Amino acid sequence: MSITVFGSVNLDLTVSVDLMPEPGVTSHATGFLKGLGGKGANQAVAATRLARCPVRFVAAIGADAFGASLRASLEGLGVDTDHLVTMPDHDSGMALIHVDATSQNTITVVGGANMAWPADGPDAECFEGCKVALFQLETPQNATIAAMRKARAAGATVILDPAPIAATGMDALLAEADIITPNETEAAGLSGKMPATFDEALDVARSLCARGPQTVIVKLGAKGLAYACKDGRSGKLEPFKVNAIDTVAAGDSFNGGLAAALAEGMELDAALRFASAAGALATTRKGASEAVPDRADVDALILKG
Ligand code: RIB
Repeated sequence: MSITVFGSVNLDLTVSVDLMPEPGVTSHATGFLKGLGGKGANQAVAATRLARCPVRFVAAIGADAFGASLRASLEGLGVDTDHLVTMPDHDSGMALIHVDATSQNTITVVGGANMAWPADGPDAECFEGCKVALFQLETPQNATIAAMRKARAAGATVILDPAPIAATGMDALLAEADIITPNETEAAGLSGKMPATFDEALDVARSLCARGPQTVIVKLGAKGLAYACKDGRSGKLEPFKVNAIDTVAAGDSFNGGLAAALAEGMELDAALRFASAAGALATTRKGASEAVPDRADVDALILKG
């Protein structure tokens, strides 16, 4: 039994600012951080730290100096890099991130090697024995769909974090997912309606279930989450109270935690609490992959309540 994460790996260049930049304005940063990121890498780090089973990370780096440093960072964080491929004619992925004084962020991703996968995605062998497989959208849509199909064929539960949302082709992706985990902006992008309340998030989750997934979890950040399942179950979860300083990779920690919890057989309610605790703890630390919490911290926060 194992978890496979197929996704991106980026060099994150993060500047802290008091206010998000306005067009035409030059301002001084209040801090700077350079580190490992990418939704795929962050989720792989989270699954590796939180799961009680092996985790494979299937990803691509460029044939540049950044690629070697990203590989070393992944290895330093204990991620299995056996399925990390080098795309010869591409630069490594990069993300330019602003975090403001309220801990909110904006992210611009330069796909590079992450977007160089062939249409048939990674080999089916990457999903052999896989119980849960995790996907995001910083890889090409056709390769991601092909990979999701291979994961399903191997008997895995397929989780899709639909981030960043694409203007077209989302229905083909939803059709291949068992579980999707949009945040409120992504839920709005998928449904055409921004959920302002828990009840609106529940309505959006129910409507998205009709488009393929068995379970839709709408992450509402500091407001918690709402979820709905095709079998009629639905619910809300209040957030864990923490002192948030940087929300980058909170969603990724949530997804890695969800995969870990489902892989060890937790029921949905318990898995959502576990994932929420992981996401909350990630906001208490700066950076992306480096901000992902470990199992002991997540278990302790759940006990504390
Ligand atoms: O979800 C956060 C991540 O989004 C960052 O690490 C950045 O690389 C982008 O992929």
